[in-house]
Amino acid sequence: MKDIQTLPVGAVIDEHGATVQKMFDRIAPGYDRANRVMSLGTDERWRRRAVAKLLAHAPAGVGLDLCAGTLDSTLAIHRAFPEAHLVAGDFAGEMLEHGKKKLVGTAAAHIETRQMDAHALPLADASVDGIFCAFGIRNLSDLDRATHEQARVLRAGGQLVVLEFFRPTRWLTRVVHVVYNETLLPIVGWAITGDREAYRYLPRSIGRFDSVGRYCERLSSAGFVDVEVESLTLGVACIVRATRGSAGQGDA
Ligand SMILES: C[S@@+](CC[C@H](N)C(=O)[O-])C[C@H]1O[C@@H](n2cnc3c(N)ncnc32)[C@H](O)[C@@H]1O
Repeated sequence: MKDIQTLPVGAVIDEHGATVQKMFDRIAPGYDRANRVMSLGTDERWRRRAVAKLLAHAPAGVGLDLCAGTLDSTLAIHRAFPEAHLVAGDFAGEMLEHGKKKLVGTAAAHIETRQMDAHALPLADASVDGIFCAFGIRNLSDLDRATHEQARVLRAGGQLVVLEFFRPTRWLTRVVHVVYNETLLPIVGWAITGDREAYRYLPRSIGRFDSVGRYCERLSSAGFVDVEVESLTLGVACIVRATRGSAGQGDA
């Protein structure tokens, strides 16, 4: 097992980041329950599918689950890939604390949680074989900067798998977004967590986020190649997988 070297953490949390961090710290106790109810378990199916995509391409080694939250994805990666050393990184300490309670047995030995900001990863250049990020990048203040950070820490040929709600562009997906995300979801999320604002933030963040096409362009500019997209459940969510190019191969 290769060790990840830790570099000094560059704290770059701006005003938006601080608001997002506080919000996730606040909703951490009810986060898992709200996810299960609001998606009727679909989030778990999507996660498993995204993890399978990572495993199909990434060799065993060091993996980073970025914006890991309460570690549901980290645990799904561990179950599918028990020998890998996994770092679960998130800037919301409360989310990680709730996740840590789920680390028992082999998971506790193979998963390390680390508080980190996605814009300044405390990891050495080319030290990671795979990065997974579920429902995280939409929250970032500077997506280009964070994408370059991911490219920096991934070794050439390393894999990035992102599961995300991108801004819908197809009319049917837009209808689902308006009916479900903008109308039903804030009510259900409020009822479960008691936090109305957090679940109004979700549809707003989707509405102002990149389309999946725009995000793929950012990946190419940051040195990723072989970018592929899988659309899930009428395009409500997408999995994007990309390979970290070697020097001169798609480098920005
Ligand atoms: C919607 S949750 C997703 C959690 C988990 N990946 C999942 O699938 O359930 C988004 C997570 O991203 C984290 N996050 C947002 N911005 C971040 C940043 N700049 N650096 C690190 N983590 C961040 C939040 O704290 C939160 O835990």
